[in-house]
Amino acid sequence: MQKNAFPRVTSEEAAALKRRLGPASFARRVAREDARELKLGGLLRWCPMRWAAPAARLAFKATGLYGRAHREFLGIVVREEEFALAGLPPELDGFTLLHLSDMHVDLDPALPDAIRAALGRVRGRYDAAVATGDFNNFTVHRDCKALDLVASLRGAFTAPVFGVLGNHDSVRDVPRLERGGVRILLNESVRLRRAGAAGGPSLLLAGVDDPNVFETDDIAAALRGRRPGEPVVLLAHGPSVHREAAAAGVSLVLCGHVHGGQICLPSGRTLAWRHWRFPRHVWRGRWTEGATQGYTTTGVGACGVPLRLNCPPEIVLVRLTRA
Ligand SMILES: [Fe+2]
Repeated sequence: MQKNAFPRVTSEEAAALKRRLGPASFARRVAREDARELKLGGLLRWCPMRWAAPAARLAFKATGLYGRAHREFLGIVVREEEFALAGLPPELDGFTLLHLSDMHVDLDPALPDAIRAALGRVRGRYDAAVATGDFNNFTVHRDCKALDLVASLRGAFTAPVFGVLGNHDSVRDVPRLERGGVRILLNESVRLRRAGAAGGPSLLLAGVDDPNVFETDDIAAALRGRRPGEPVVLLAHGPSVHREAAAAGVSLVLCGHVHGGQICLPSGRTLAWRHWRFPRHVWRGRWTEGATQGYTTTGVGACGVPLRLNCPPEIVLVRLTRA
């Protein structure tokens, strides 16, 4: 049975999304989402991810690697990284963001509990959580189950949750994601402060819309309202924003999208040798571009098939310190 691809939004919600994302970006995103739905839902109906997944599963079973790759997929690792930021107020020294990305939470029935367990291991250790897109796995003919699953995870977080959309998400997901407790930044920003320090020292958390497939990212709009010398953490689904972020003086970029390659050689090296959007130095882990620092996480979920090899999923405690 064909499922609804996108959740319904009211005309008031659509008007608010258009205003927040910017009219041009909103029009481009909606047009591309609808075009993708038509293309994949029609001509290519028989070969989207949900049909490719069983084939990949069979291939892994045939090679005896399925059990190991599925266990690795569910074995979410907690990483800790520290970044020194110029201009960080003394009161925010040690401010910690929990970074997670690419949940693809509807990919496997065991995944939500694995994420919940990983969040349980970092309870109370962060000041805010940031999710850098791809909440959904299926991009067409979705049943929107992912949005309910994301909402069901909210109780496992111990701080406010912010996020940006990825290329697997629809702009029409935003009202439901936000009702589920994830504040989405649509080329927007918020100020982060210590809990209970209203009006106290802050840093800017900005987020751009998907820069990879929809190309609706607008760093200038996201940084509107930045104060001189104020440190900025920028959320983006993928690292293709690295040069523009450096040119804009962003302090730290947090992103995902690449999944670390997901299926890698025993050395951890990805099987792919290039990406048309960005150079290899920003694919995975820590990177710098000019004075801008970045971290590209391997993500917590996986794309297409619930399997990983030599590339464990992760959540990352990002500790900010004074430069
Ligand atoms: Fe992803």
